[in-house]
Amino acid sequence: MSAKERKKKSAETAVKEEKKIAAKLIPIYIMGKRYEVPEGLTIMKAMEYAGYILIRGCGCRGGTCGACGTVYRKPGDYKLQVALACQKTVEPDMYIAQIPFFPANRARYDFAKLTAAPEEVFKLYPELFRCVACNSCTKACPQGIEVMDAISALKQGNISEAARLSFDCIQCGLCTSRCFGELAQYHMFQLARRIYGARIVPRAEHLAEMVKAVNEGRYDQILDELKHVKEDELKKLYQEREAEPMTAGEDWKPKDTTYL
Ligand code: SF4
Ligand code: SF4
Ligand code: FES
Repeated sequence: MSAKERKKKSAETAVKEEKKIAAKLIPIYIMGKRYEVPEGLTIMKAMEYAGYILIRGCGCRGGTCGACGTVYRKPGDYKLQVALACQKTVEPDMYIAQIPFFPANRARYDFAKLTAAPEEVFKLYPELFRCVACNSCTKACPQGIEVMDAISALKQGNISEAARLSFDCIQCGLCTSRCFGELAQYHMFQLARRIYGARIVPRAEHLAEMVKAVNEGRYDQILDELKHVKEDELKKLYQEREAEPMTAGEDWKPKDTTYL
């Protein structure tokens, strides 16, 4: 690195350090211990700033895997709040504890033998009827799912509605942690979505046609040819392929429809 580059790098580092020092530190409590962390950090980053090395309770960091369920309380507030640690930013004096895993009853079943009859769900999860309609689960859900309504749908035997309402569930378990009836809602929802997908929703005709075409060997020759193409040529083919535009409509088709 030249002297000029070194000087530039050191100036950049100094600016970064200055910014770091300038960031206002706020007090938070992790598992009851006080730390000072820069404001604006997510709970997850604040925990790491405080020295925690997260090997559990941390996954996608993008609000989709459900691994980072967290509870917290703020001073003077009776209410226990819930959040995803990778999404919620720290606030002064919050008392934080993570719930990366919440023990919950998960029924065992041979899915191949299950039908779409609501009784299948009732039999596997009889505790469904322990729901007292308190709505605590809905209030705890970081995904904004109408959890209680989805449970009510299951109780009414409406598996499709339960699957639809719970579609965005990320299995964080926060609803379960707050349930008066001791239900494991997310396992029940997963079962509902499985039954819906495999037994209720109509089969896609175009998919069946494509599977048939594959099985009949429609793509065997071209795949075989591609297997023998040199790597550079393969990359070129890939880069020069006609890609679907970002804004393409549902009816978009490539110019060459040989393999459609
Ligand atoms: S329904 Fe329950 S497990 Fe699913 S995202 Fe909401 S709180 Fe988490
Ligand atoms: S928290 Fe439990 S008991 Fe309360 S509404 Fe939800 S499922 Fe029912
Ligand atoms: S780390 Fe995946 S949801 Fe937070």
